Amino acid sequence: METSIVLSFLGLIESRARASGAGQDILRRAGVALWLSGTLACAARPPAESAASPAASEAGAPSLSEKYAPLFPIGAAVDSGSIKSHEAVLARHFNSITAENEMKFESLEATEGAFDYSTADAMVALAKSHGMKVRGHTLVWHRQTPAWMFTGPDGAPASPELLLARLRNHIQNVVTHFKGSVYAWDVVNEAILDNGQWRTANEPEADQRSPWHGILGTSYVAEAFKAAHAADPDAKLFYNEYRNYIPEKRQAVYAMLKQLLADGVPVHGVGLQCHLNIEPSTDPNNHGYFQTVAELEQAIQLYASLGLEVQVTELDLSVYVPGVKYTPDQFFTAETFSDEVQVRQAARYAEFFALFRKHARTVTGVTFWGVADDNTWLSEFSSGRKDFPLLFDMKHEPKKAFYAVMDF
Ligand code: XIL
Repeated sequence: METSIVLSFLGLIESRARASGAGQDILRRAGVALWLSGTLACAARPPAESAASPAASEAGAPSLSEKYAPLFPIGAAVDSGSIKSHEAVLARHFNSITAENEMKFESLEATEGAFDYSTADAMVALAKSHGMKVRGHTLVWHRQTPAWMFTGPDGAPASPELLLARLRNHIQNVVTHFKGSVYAWDVVNEAILDNGQWRTANEPEADQRSPWHGILGTSYVAEAFKAAHAADPDAKLFYNEYRNYIPEKRQAVYAMLKQLLADGVPVHGVGLQCHLNIEPSTDPNNHGYFQTVAELEQAIQLYASLGLEVQVTELDLSVYVPGVKYTPDQFFTAETFSDEVQVRQAARYAEFFALFRKHARTVTGVTFWGVADDNTWLSEFSSGRKDFPLLFDMKHEPKKAFYAVMDF
């Protein structure tokens, strides 16, 4: 199966990275490759009608976040570079940011007890200078967490007591530091698999394993929320997950949240990552098969039935179709990302935004995973597969998708 090939490839990359000490960067790229595991024999498409898009420049276009202000804030993930290089478009069209990597465990506590907030603080300060809100991402994840966390003094796996103490210490320190600046936290990220099972320490692929679960069982989720709430009782606490449109997965997330709430655990909302594609997969065995507005709506309604709010936390819309095999000559370029493709991307964006607007009482924020197509994690991998998943183009000008989500 296509995914297992990609996964064994990732395993290879990971062992190479570990062996060479090249570490995080290669592993991060490998993580991106995993997400891009869709492959394709490019189908010829009928030419679509070209949507009339105003020739307005970015500066002349109406503001996205102003238009959506009555409904919900519009956010963007930024890194320490893009927050400056994209400052003009950010300040005009967005009123919230998320640090793409700079608040993750490995960024803030690479070495035990040595917290480094310098990069994240500079980003928060810049966001504040533009009156933007800040979402915190992410306190507990199986990725981008240094190995020391799970290792005991003797080199053996950390004991449950030690890991729990470290978890509490990290969360207490980080959430206290950003208290008053970060209004919402993705407390736990990706604890449930696509098949609805808990992510364990025994997943076949190394980069899919959760040492949190291996050492603490499922208890780490409740512990993380409690620690975050103790540090900042005013912060909104989210459980963040991808592919919530898969029926087994959304049902398992729902069951987990229901139990947490029954146990009195302070959870306030669910983050829907929403890394979407230009169309769903036609293969019922592919995860992208369920990537429809109707399936995502069911997830929103299910979570809302628990009294939880929902935020779209990592929205982008790849121009590649999941499960389709693409050869390098079929990779999109600035030239082949044609009007026709732009129109289809815009239509799909429009459908999902109509859904978010329809549920604006539940959906309390929509954040894109990036600002413009010149800086997206989807293009960050060595095979050179460029993607064009955001509302603003390589030059930060609004795309057809921008006008499509503004049209209501
Ligand atoms: C990604 C970043 O965008 C990349 O720069 C990094 O190399 C890997 O992580 N789900 C998440 C995000 O919750 O933290 C991920 O961000 C994308 C998938």
